[in-house]
Amino acid sequence: MGLCSFQNFVIFWSAIFLGLAYFLYTPVPHGFSEPWKLRTVLAGFKTVNLIGGVSELLGYDSGINMTRKFLNIAYARQPDDPALEVWDATFDGVPVRIYKPIKIQTPAPAMVFLHGGGWVLFSIDEYDLTTRLIAKQAEIIVVSVNYRLAPEYPFPIPFDDCVTATTHLLQNGAKYGVDPKRVAVAGDSAGGNLAAAVSTKLRDEHHKPGIRLQILVYPVLQGCDWYLPSYQTGAILFNRDDKAKFVRAYVNFSKDFFPFIGTERYYSKTVREKCKKFVDFHLLPNEFIPKDYKQTELFSKDKLPKTLEKDFQKAQKFLSNPYIFPLMLENLKGLPPTFILSVEYDTLRDENIIFVSRLQSAGVDVVRKHFDQCIHGCFNLRNSSFDFSDGKRMIQTIVDYLKEKL
Ligand SMILES: *[C@@H]1O[C@H](CO)[C@@H](O)[C@H](O)[C@H]1NC(C)=O
Ligand SMILES: *[C@@H]1O[C@H](CO)[C@@H](O)[C@H](O)[C@H]1NC(C)=O
Ligand SMILES: *[C@@H]1O[C@H](CO)[C@@H](O)[C@H](O)[C@H]1NC(C)=O
Repeated sequence: MGLCSFQNFVIFWSAIFLGLAYFLYTPVPHGFSEPWKLRTVLAGFKTVNLIGGVSELLGYDSGINMTRKFLNIAYARQPDDPALEVWDATFDGVPVRIYKPIKIQTPAPAMVFLHGGGWVLFSIDEYDLTTRLIAKQAEIIVVSVNYRLAPEYPFPIPFDDCVTATTHLLQNGAKYGVDPKRVAVAGDSAGGNLAAAVSTKLRDEHHKPGIRLQILVYPVLQGCDWYLPSYQTGAILFNRDDKAKFVRAYVNFSKDFFPFIGTERYYSKTVREKCKKFVDFHLLPNEFIPKDYKQTELFSKDKLPKTLEKDFQKAQKFLSNPYIFPLMLENLKGLPPTFILSVEYDTLRDENIIFVSRLQSAGVDVVRKHFDQCIHGCFNLRNSSFDFSDGKRMIQTIVDYLKEKL
């Protein structure tokens, strides 16, 4: 009897343990140089998603807010560092954090930093370690912008906050020890998207002084072709559905957004034509196009259910807005010198490479560096006890670029 219940006990807990291990284990690509680091991170994200889902089910808090809380614990703000002066300020109402190396002479060059997180997650806190590293190593002032987040604050609010903060710095540099003629803008993922959009906006407005250079770490750049080769093969952390969820939150679009992308792909003639011209896979070097690759067809709205007509019109508007999707820009001339960091296991890899090719054709000074042992997110997946080697190398190449060009 006792033995039997002991057996049951062992079987019960073994099953729980195996179930958990199975749930948390994710296969990683063969040849990935740091497989266990990657598995740790992926298990972490799975756990956070699970807890977020359960707490939403129980009515405790939204999954998004739970995820935000967990990320804030895992990637916390750093303790004071005697080499840096760090203070919070507001630039025309937008909260920012300023990092100034003690030793630098002013006026100094500066970099406006726009954090990633799908316009929905993260804040300046979770990027505190990264922004500190760049300020110290590049010996520049870094201004990290705490723009408001979707879905509570959809487009154009996050974008406008970034434009406001950047413009404020360009106009009031002296107050902060910054030389306004030497201001870069940078960001990763959704932050890279915002950085490219800010550069475009200031170019369009002939702002003087303008942005001296932009640094885009795996930016989101387009929303019309969700079947480029990298969408079909590349994703580990951030796949097509994840991107769709974040975009939907950013533009405050109903669940009915899905018919316009993904499986059904309804687009207006204008969007289809722009997509063909500006996001075409032929702009990729051959090495990135699989031999059997067939471009996925985009459909006209003929087959669209009548009930979706209004959503359709709204979707076409934002799909072709270059301040939401910078690859929709017809004319890239006059954009600042650009450094693009692309990574291999990323849905966004191909739109990053296409942007480089289009910038080159427009005569913009552009450098791309590719990291082949990196997933989407590895740039900032770091805390005091953890990082990826390629993430570290990314910081180093950004520092080198800033030292040379800013
Ligand atoms: C997150 O929490 C804040 C404060 O309680 C609330 O205002 C906001 O609507 C929540 N956001 C989401 C996406 O649930
Ligand atoms: C740092 O990140 C790793 C990987 O996400 C995580 O396992 C660890 O708990 C984090 N450390 C701290 C101090 O939060
Ligand atoms: C998002 O759109 C819905 C429907 O159009 C609207 O009711 C809601 O107020 C919008 N949300 C925000 C945060 O603007």
